[in-house]
Amino acid sequence: MPVVAFYSKDSNAELKNEWENRLRVYYPFISLVPLLSDQAEKAITALLWKAPLERVKKLNKLKCLISLGQGVDHILKDNIIDKNITVVRVVDPFMAKSMSHWVVMSVLNFVRDTFGYYNQQKNKIYKPRKQINFTTLKIAVYGIGAIGSVVAKDLKQLGFKVYGWSRTQKQMSGINCFIGKDKFKCLLKSCDIHICLLPLTIETNKIFSKSSFNMMKHGSCFINAGRGEQVVEEHLLENCKSGHISEAVLDVYSKEPLPKKSQLWEQKNIRIWPHVAAETNPETAAKQIANAIKCIEKGKIPPNTIERNLGY
Ligand code: NDP
Ligand code: OXD
Repeated sequence: MPVVAFYSKDSNAELKNEWENRLRVYYPFISLVPLLSDQAEKAITALLWKAPLERVKKLNKLKCLISLGQGVDHILKDNIIDKNITVVRVVDPFMAKSMSHWVVMSVLNFVRDTFGYYNQQKNKIYKPRKQINFTTLKIAVYGIGAIGSVVAKDLKQLGFKVYGWSRTQKQMSGINCFIGKDKFKCLLKSCDIHICLLPLTIETNKIFSKSSFNMMKHGSCFINAGRGEQVVEEHLLENCKSGHISEAVLDVYSKEPLPKKSQLWEQKNIRIWPHVAAETNPETAAKQIANAIKCIEKGKIPPNTIERNLGY
């Protein structure tokens, strides 16, 4: 009976049982055991979300760590995990589409001034507000991988001018794709809506700081569902306070849960979401995870194994 160590930050027996039941559809008799229990010593694979890595490191039989999400920064953090351990991530079209829904909603809220009308309703004001000509709006999607590419296509479909930025050159029909630091600056300067869907790596850490925000046009919208550490929150806050950034929509933070004392909560033009833009769905992700576990048992490299030197 294959034993898999399990840990999720909201770890509870119910969630572990749900994953176990979903995985058993594809791998009968698989057993998920809590990472912190003695039974985890037998595991060669672990299924993890924000786990205590010092504990993971102590499990001598482990060959593979599977992220319970599309990001793997929580596993690679501080280089605690040995380089010879295989790290696999979920790549689920369901998550890409969920993210796309969240981004489209955020973009449309900005474009159609949802919060302006919401405030008018609170004061019983029945008055049209200036409508933005959406055909002139330019949207930059930073990170056009499994998720960002779907988001970019869906925004394009809605009639926006969409630009993508990635590490390696991409070709996407109807979307201008760029690479490199100079083009990053060009996008910051020329676009009206900026969407961060980058993985957290050494290169993307604090990529949105004072200098990036200063380059953006006055009145820009900034949306982040990548990772909180990619943004210098203080600098974003200053730019939101001054109105240089007219709306920011955040799903991720440098510290999660977002501390009650954070000033981001109070800022009127910042929307706070509790890291829910695209949640991992056991129903749609179980098949690929079961397959990854089988691959490891057979000594094969599972699909969606990440490149450790790239950090994503
Ligand atoms: P992918 O690895 O598929 O895509 C990452 C994209 O970022 C790629 O286009 C990649 O370029 C680009 N990229 C990476 N490093 C750089 C760099 N230094 N400069 C420019 N571009 C770079 O990841 P996913 O699309 O699956 O996920 C992206 C991130 O979204 C996750 O890592 C996670 O942080 C976040 N996420 C957030 C969720 C939420 O609910 N808030 C849910 C799921 C994910 P290239 O294509 O050339 O490799
Ligand atoms: C993920 C996330 O990486 O939910 O999947 O943030």
